Amino acid sequence: MPTIIDVSVLHKHYKHIKALDGLSLTVEEGEILGVLGPNGAGKTTLIKCLLTLISPTSGSIRVAGIDAARSSDKVRQVCGYVPQEVSVDGELTGYENLLLYSKLYFIPRSEREKRIEDILDYMELTPRAHDLAKTYSGGMMRRLELAQAMVNRPRILFLDEPTLGLDPAAKRMVWKHILQLRQEFGTTVFLTTHDMAEADALCDRIAMISKGKIAAFNTVAYLKDSVGGDIISLVTANGSPAGLLTTLGFTPLGPQDNSYELVHRDGEKSIPSILEALSAGGTKVESVSLKKPTLDDVFLKYAGARLDQEQTWDESWRLRRAVRKRH
Ligand SMILES: Nc1ncnc2c1ncn2[C@@H]1O[C@H](COP(=O)(O)OP(=O)(O)OP(=O)(O)O)[C@@H](O)[C@H]1O
Ligand SMILES: [Mg+2]
Repeated sequence: MPTIIDVSVLHKHYKHIKALDGLSLTVEEGEILGVLGPNGAGKTTLIKCLLTLISPTSGSIRVAGIDAARSSDKVRQVCGYVPQEVSVDGELTGYENLLLYSKLYFIPRSEREKRIEDILDYMELTPRAHDLAKTYSGGMMRRLELAQAMVNRPRILFLDEPTLGLDPAAKRMVWKHILQLRQEFGTTVFLTTHDMAEADALCDRIAMISKGKIAAFNTVAYLKDSVGGDIISLVTANGSPAGLLTTLGFTPLGPQDNSYELVHRDGEKSIPSILEALSAGGTKVESVSLKKPTLDDVFLKYAGARLDQEQTWDESWRLRRAVRKRH
């Protein structure tokens, strides 16, 4: 697959804040790339630089072979964008929002009606096309935003947290449409998300960003495998088994409140022998659990922090969306 986005040593500094700090990555044509990272990692800044909405402090960007610093208008012509903030006008109908976008993209008058009709149909919005957008559910609004971004038939679609605040059913519907767009039109999708299930469901590769830098970049399967295996959590009732666990060949993480985390390729099978050895050494185990590595564990391994900060942001986003809908 040819490279469609090529970012090299990108810096974006705001006074003392290094929003992007020497970030490099490439995206292949037709892939769905997920960018994961905690709040403030630099995800939106990266998208805005790629779309030429802001200028980087230094570094180079090529989008579809075009130098973004020289020809921002050409870059924008091949890109569609669904921003993190709400981008539909609630006082217009779905149809009117799309008409506005088709004019902004200079779609010829003779083609507009057909394009709008097709994309409304594609996003399953036709029955509500002439209702005001502020009366749409969150999922329908997000689908209208996808329709807006697709009306120009872009080669690359940038989605900044496309399902934030949606319920599980609405999320799955948006996922279905994203996968369909790639399958039917070969659209390259560059999305940011905090939702690890979303990254699992959609993305061919994941770029993990921490403090404006790439912490890890590979396929979901490779990244999970790189954690080293299953994670066994033990809670002990007495004594510290750390020495014993080390002699068994583990490097236990912890202790935290008498709990230890061990990584093992074959977790299920190793638990009985671990428990036996601990018992023989006089350690009483209160509980034991096993989990398969998640992208959160991957982020912990490479960036030394947890990704999971979704709750509060989710809530504030829902509130903002509700306020926008009312006005
Ligand atoms: N216009 C700006 N002026 C000053 N600082 C900014 C500006 N835009 C972004 N930043 C800072 O740059 C850093 C990266 O912000 P960015 O919005 O790219 O993060 P993000 O990864 O998208 O976070 P989130 O998950 O919360 O959306 C943050 O520290 C942010 O405060
Ligand atoms: Mg953001």
